Order: sequence, then C-alpha cells, then structure tokens
Amino acid sequence: MILMNDFRRQWADAGEDFHRALERTGASGWYILGREVERFEQSLAAVWGLPHAVGVASGLDALGIALRTLGLRAGDRVLLAPVSAFATALAVLHAGGAPVFAPCSPNGLADLDACAEILERDPAIRFFLPVHLYGHCLDMDRLGAIAARGVRIVEDCAQSILARWNGRPCGSAGRAAAASFYPTKNLGAMGDGGAILTSDAELASQARCWRDYGQRSKYDHAVAGVNSRLDELQAAFLSDAGLPRLEAWTARRRAIARAYIEGIRHPQIEIPAPPPGSDSVWHLFPVLVPDGAKERFRRHMADCGVQTAEHYPLPLFDQPAMRGVAYQIAGDPGPARRFCRREASLPIHPYLADAEAHAVIEACNRWPGV
Ligand SMILES: Cc1ncc(COP(=O)(O)O)c(C=O)c1O
Repeated sequence: MILMNDFRRQWADAGEDFHRALERTGASGWYILGREVERFEQSLAAVWGLPHAVGVASGLDALGIALRTLGLRAGDRVLLAPVSAFATALAVLHAGGAPVFAPCSPNGLADLDACAEILERDPAIRFFLPVHLYGHCLDMDRLGAIAARGVRIVEDCAQSILARWNGRPCGSAGRAAAASFYPTKNLGAMGDGGAILTSDAELASQARCWRDYGQRSKYDHAVAGVNSRLDELQAAFLSDAGLPRLEAWTARRRAIARAYIEGIRHPQIEIPAPPPGSDSVWHLFPVLVPDGAKERFRRHMADCGVQTAEHYPLPLFDQPAMRGVAYQIAGDPGPARRFCRREASLPIHPYLADAEAHAVIEACNRWPGV
C-alpha cells in the first residue's frame, strides 16, 4: 500500500539524529524549558524569518495562547476559516471566543475578499484566524491590509512552514502565527509540539509567561496561564533530525506536487489551485471529485494500492461538537459543505518514491469516474 505518511522510512533516514538528540538531552540532566527549547526557538525563528519563536505543547495551544495574549475575552467574536482541522475552532472555543465562520473559496481556503468585507461591515469582530491550508500561502498583502485596520490576526500556519507569498513568509502579516510539530506536519516531532511566531517582543514574552503557569519568574504568577511547554526532548529532535532536513523535505513535497499537477489528467478529477502568488509547501495534496463520488474514488484508489484521506470530511461548523455552541456562519455555508463532500487527499510526503508518485498518478487516471 502507498501510504499517506511513512514514518518507518523517516526513521531509517534520520534515526541516528534522533538517537543523538536523545543522548544529549538525557545527559544534560535538564528536561523542561532548558537549552534545547531555547536553541530550537532561535533556529526556528531564523528559518521562518520572524524574530521570535515560543515553543509550546501543540499547535492547538499555540493558537489558543496567541489569541489570549492578544487580549481575547469571553464572548469576543473571531472570524475564522470554515474548512480546517478541528483544532482551529477548538482554539477559539477554549479561549472563550465565539466563532464566525468565513465563506469558502473554490480551493477550500477562506475567501479573503469576503473576509475583508465582513470585517469592514462589522467592526465589532476584532479577531481573525485565517488558515494557510494544505501548505498554501494566503494573500499576505490582503491579510496585511486587514491587520492595518486594527483587526488582530493569528495566522494558523500548522500546515504551512516555509510557505511564502511573493517571497514574504506566511505568518508575517498578523500579530502572531501558530506552528504545529505533530508528526505528520512538514516539520514533525516524535510526539506533540507547537510554537508561536511573532515579530512583537512583548507578545513573545507574554506567550512565554502563559505557557508556564503564567509565571513571569519563579512563583510570580502574572496571569492564570497553562502548562503548555515544548519538551526539551522534542525540541532536540526537531533541532537535530527535523530542521536540517526541512528544506530538502519541502523540495521533495514540491516535486511530487508538480508531478501530480502535470500527470493527473482526468475530466472528473480537479486539482484546487493554490492562491496565485503562493509558493506552497504542499503539506497535503487535495483533489476534488464530483459530488457524491468520493467513496467510489477512494475505493478505487485503495483497490489500486493507494491510501487516501479527507481534509476534511465536514466544515468545522458541521462537527457534532459545535451543537449547542453559539457560532455564526457568515454567508452561504453551501460552498464549504460541497467542498468537503468532494475533497480527497493523495499521498504526499518526503519519503514517497518517484515510482510511487507515478503509481498514484496512474491510479487517478485509470479511475472509471461516474
Ligand atoms: C490547520 C491546523 N491547525 C491546527 C492544528 C493543531 O495542531 P496540533 O495537532 O499540534 O495541536 C492542526 C494539526 O492538526 C492543523 O492542521
């Protein structure tokens, strides 16, 4: 089976680096918020092109802490993307915010024109959580223009590390960006991890306080924070095994995406286009099949030995956990629902071989369709 991810191959390539990181951390005798986290934060900030990185326990926490440090209060409305990992909505809910779901573009990303209009029409919405979905970069100029009007933007960059918009790094238009190091992510740990990226030194310092019980210094608790510290061990893994490979891994994802874009020729398989100007890092490779045909497509791919997935089966607002939650849907929910009904994801990861990518293309092109 051609898998969506293959961590055994990653281990075969990078296992020695993981071992070295483990030995160094073990021998250091310091396991929480020490040199490894500090070193990784500095390297990550440099790679990203933003001055500050604050390591936390997950991407979900990175989003939540960023929203809180930006002053989100219970009941504040937050405009957010309608199609994403459920963590995007959870971050808003955990911080006490009230979600307002944005309209969906044909490529599954939030429609930024519509978002700008909604935020202009309703200035009481002061927070915006756009998602650089699939590793695509949203229009950073548009995001910057929205931010310039005083809207507090937290960019969800869980899927988009190294993605750029006309040379500008994703995550640099708003006040803060959130990264995830969940193992499947483009920069994955061997467990959970996340980070807040920002160019605002004061915000970075507040986030450091939030992640560590709200401590400014030992036993001096300025806010009712949380325990959300990036582990020393995960930081060491990311420094030794992940970051040195990130560029090559990203280049491989891009090469596979190019092969799929050139090779998949089927009248009923559509490849949703990244926003023009986006230098995508292809965390995922979504395709759209006719409404009602997704199960048949996925069964055909499985019969051809290709695993597929869904990102995502439902818009965030249709998840059962949203029942009873006070949220709004701005505009027509139809396009997001239709996108989710039609979307399937093909395998794309740095250890996918050329022959396997070719087999994925062949399997797509051989689909009888509907
Ligand atoms: C778009 C998006 N946002 C947020 C998250 C949450 O990240 P984590 O799993 O590290 O909490 C994820 C990962 O699942 C994601 O894909």
